[in-house]
Amino acid sequence: MDTIKISTRSKNYNVYLGENILSELEDLPNYSKLLIITNEDLKELHLNTLKRHLPNIETHIYISPNGENAKTLEVYNDCISFAIDRGIDRKSMILAFGGGSIGDLAGFVAATYMRGLPFIQIPTTILAHDSAVGGKVAINHPLGKNMVGAFYQPEQVIFDTQFLSTLSDREIRSGFAEVVKHLLIADPHFLQKIMTEIRSLDDLTNKIQRFLKRGIEIKANIVSRDERENDIRAYLNFGHTLGHALEVDLGYGNLPHGEAVMIGVIYALHLSKHIHHLEMPYEKFILWIESLGYKWRIPKNIQFDSIFERMKKDKKSSGHTPVFVLLKELGKPVVQKVDQQLLRESFYLIQES
Ligand SMILES: NC(=O)c1ccc[n+]([C@@H]2O[C@H](COP(=O)([O-])OP(=O)(O)OC[C@H]3O[C@@H](n4cnc5c(N)ncnc54)[C@H](O)[C@@H]3O)[C@@H](O)[C@H]2O)c1
Repeated sequence: MDTIKISTRSKNYNVYLGENILSELEDLPNYSKLLIITNEDLKELHLNTLKRHLPNIETHIYISPNGENAKTLEVYNDCISFAIDRGIDRKSMILAFGGGSIGDLAGFVAATYMRGLPFIQIPTTILAHDSAVGGKVAINHPLGKNMVGAFYQPEQVIFDTQFLSTLSDREIRSGFAEVVKHLLIADPHFLQKIMTEIRSLDDLTNKIQRFLKRGIEIKANIVSRDERENDIRAYLNFGHTLGHALEVDLGYGNLPHGEAVMIGVIYALHLSKHIHHLEMPYEKFILWIESLGYKWRIPKNIQFDSIFERMKKDKKSSGHTPVFVLLKELGKPVVQKVDQQLLRESFYLIQES
């Protein structure tokens, strides 16, 4: 098992990463009750495994809808009602059992219920190596992704890779996109290595713990220096300005988060080439992600004007100009405004014909 230490101003905690490590849960302190927040898929696939490792504490289980449908104001409200009804109190503990959507919902419930309860992240997707670490928790608003949220760190993260065996190829790809993002902004040498090593999704799943560990280390390093995104934490949004806008435009849940981010990464690389003359093996990178099955072009039914309006509402935006994370060099991100005309031209350049 790997242990990665996360040190932030508000809390220090560990991420435990390995296969069959749920025994970490067995010596939880004596909480009055446990509230597990999970979804239909996880209930079907893995909830019984989790239950076998719970300490002897009264436990209540809230089942949310699958995927991004967990992150609505309605589900949040329903979950709070459930917690009140079951007598969850300030001495209770919340367990977030699922992918990034569940982690974000459960974390926001934990941050706000009775002004804050402790919670543990038990991620079950590759993507959640990113979302479960660093304490950003949020739900969506119909007008914008993650618009209602908090910075609220978990007590610990128990990332048991046994759960990853049931992920679909699409979810594997979606999750790995965030690993690629981490490497582009912080470790281009590692990226170069894996572009040679990883030729298929099977290669990827066989070596997944190594990539997850590196992704978590990069995130840990950034959030330890800037917990509340006053500065360098914004780099983690590489690919997200367009990515989030696409997710909202296509309707939440219709484009997996990581797929949207990968399209956003290509867009940001393109802008970086234009503005900063970024040098990188762009064609080779595209061929590599295509060989792993990524679709990196902007879908053809999307209109620039609609996306532009959505990008202006991004949390990084200042005034009415969208703000992007770009790369001056591989591993050297910068945050900046980008001119609307260039955004439009680059958009059409990478859109499906
Ligand atoms: N808080 C953060 O810092 C942060 C960072 C990155 C992404 N996010 C958020 O994370 C969310 C995306 O997370 P995600 O990609 O994990 O998606 P997800 O949680 O929506 O899960 C994707 C699908 O996989 C299913 N699933 C989960 N675990 C499974 C398993 N082990 N086997 C089979 N199916 C499983 C889920 O039920 C769901 O239908 C987005 O809402 C995004 O905004 C948050």
